Order: sequence, then structure tokens, then C-alpha cells
Amino acid sequence: MQRRLLEVLQCPTCAYAPLQLVTDDLFAEVEQGTLHCEHCGRQTAIREGIVDALGDAPVALTGAQLTNYLSPAAWGYERLWRWQSLSLLTGEHFPLRRELRLVQALLEPERGGVLIDVACSAALYARSWSASTPPDTLLIGVDHSWAMLREARRRSFEAPRPISLVRAAAQALPFQAASATGVGMGGSLNEIGDADGALREIRRLLAPDGRFVSMNLLQASSGRGRALQRVLAEGGVAFPTLETFNQQLERAGLQRWAQWRWGVVAITATVAGD
Ligand SMILES: C[S@@+](CC[C@H](N)C(=O)[O-])C[C@H]1O[C@@H](n2cnc3c(N)ncnc32)[C@H](O)[C@@H]1O
Ligand SMILES: [Zn+2]
Repeated sequence: MQRRLLEVLQCPTCAYAPLQLVTDDLFAEVEQGTLHCEHCGRQTAIREGIVDALGDAPVALTGAQLTNYLSPAAWGYERLWRWQSLSLLTGEHFPLRRELRLVQALLEPERGGVLIDVACSAALYARSWSASTPPDTLLIGVDHSWAMLREARRRSFEAPRPISLVRAAAQALPFQAASATGVGMGGSLNEIGDADGALREIRRLLAPDGRFVSMNLLQASSGRGRALQRVLAEGGVAFPTLETFNQQLERAGLQRWAQWRWGVVAITATVAGD
């Protein structure tokens, strides 16, 4: 983690901030250490440069989430699937470059501040934003899978700016309220479990001028597509209709200002509502 992450972190147990950093590391990037909460006494470990806000707490995982805990899945996710995922899902030529450009146009990482890639896998979005952010931007990737975060760390060494990685559940993000200028979520809302809880948490993080951009999947319109989605639903992947998804955003206090749909894929930009 970047030492500057302390500016936005809060205690995962009691939400107290600031946390105290205890480490022998001398540099801006901390590899090993502990974050101490002087309010409740909780110690949060930093291991392999990753803040572990989940610790040993038992996590109830669906089949789909369990798959992402496995190292081969983390290794293959971007290499084998992600680069062609939207072309396969939309049935049209939809290169990754186009998705990343759309998300960037909506999120505008050039505005800087604090940008969080939630349920980031290998931190594809955070890495793509890092090329256009001002130098003092704090880039953060969050996932609950160690395997994915390790892959994110390997890949982020090549990113133009450092990315701080945090192991946490999307429904309990250990950051201070109104701290984020931008939050992005690429394809994760479908498998995240409690989507309402995750969206509420994202709303809590948004600064008054903050934006949340989501790429997620919707219910298929064809019978065959819906049959396949019913099978995936057994593994814990949800495919809401566009209407249901928009209701989820509203319930969480997120106000839509742009939305596109290509088949089962939607890209949506929101701001914090009243
Ligand atoms: C579809 S992949 C994400 C892809 C990535 N955002 C991208 O654009 O390449 C879903 C990710 O969400 C993570 N995940 C699933 N449920 C989560 C939860 N409740 N909290 C945090 N991460 C979660 C998984 O570990 C996995 O890495
Ligand atoms: Zn605490």
C-alpha cells in the first residue's frame, strides 16, 4: 500500500480514523506492517503490500466467488477471458479498449483525487486509469480474493502510477465516507452477493462531486440466453433486468446520468443523489 492510503482508510471494525501505521519499511510503498486502531484496538495486517481488512474472518462464498479464490482463475482471468469478454457477451466487435475508453470518458480519472476499483480482480480499471491521472491521485483496488489481489499486484508494477490494494468485501469497504472522487466496478456486480449492500457502500464513499461507473450484465432477452443464465444463477451469479438494476441504484441513493446497453451488457454512470 501507499503510505498515503492512511488519508482515506478507516478501521474495518469500528470505522475510526485515522489508523496508525506500524512498519519497519522506510519507503512510500509499505510491504509489511500493521494498521492499529487506537479506538477499538484492532490490528489490520499489511502483507505482500496488500492491506488485509478481512483477515481470518470466515467468508461465505458462492460457487462463482469461490472460483475467483483460485490461483489458476486469477492467472487466466485477463489472459484468457477479459480481453474478449464483451465481444463474446454482446455478439459484436467490442474490444476491451472500447470499454476502457467509455468507462474513462464517464469517470474522468484526469480529475484525480481518490479512485477506487471495487471487486477489481487484476485491477484492470485502476491500471487503465493510472495512465491519465494527475501525480497526486490515490489509486485503490479492492477485492476479497488473495489470488486476484496478488495478480493485481504483479500487473500493477507496470502501471504508470502505484495502486494500493486492499482485501475487503464490497459490502464493507474500509474507507472514510465521501472520500472517493471516482468508483468503478467492471463486471462484478453480478457475482458480488448482496448487490444492494455493495451499492449502498459505494454511495457512502462518494464525495459530493464523486462518480460511480459500472459495467455489468443484464438478463438476456433470448430463451437460450436466459436458460444459460439460470444455470449460472445456481453458482451465485445474478442477472437483473435493466429496470431492476436501475431500481437497485435508486435504492442505494445513486442517481443515473448516463447509460448504454448492448445486449446483456450495460455501462452506467451515476452520482450521489440527495
Ligand atoms: C467479474 S470479476 C471482476 C473483473 C474486474 N473488475 C475487471 O474489470 O476485470 C469479479 C471479481 O469480484 C470479486 N468479488 C466477488 N464478490 C466480491 C465481494 N463481495 N467483495 C469483494 N470482491 C468480490 C471476485 O473475487 C472477482 O475478482
Ligand atoms: Zn477500530
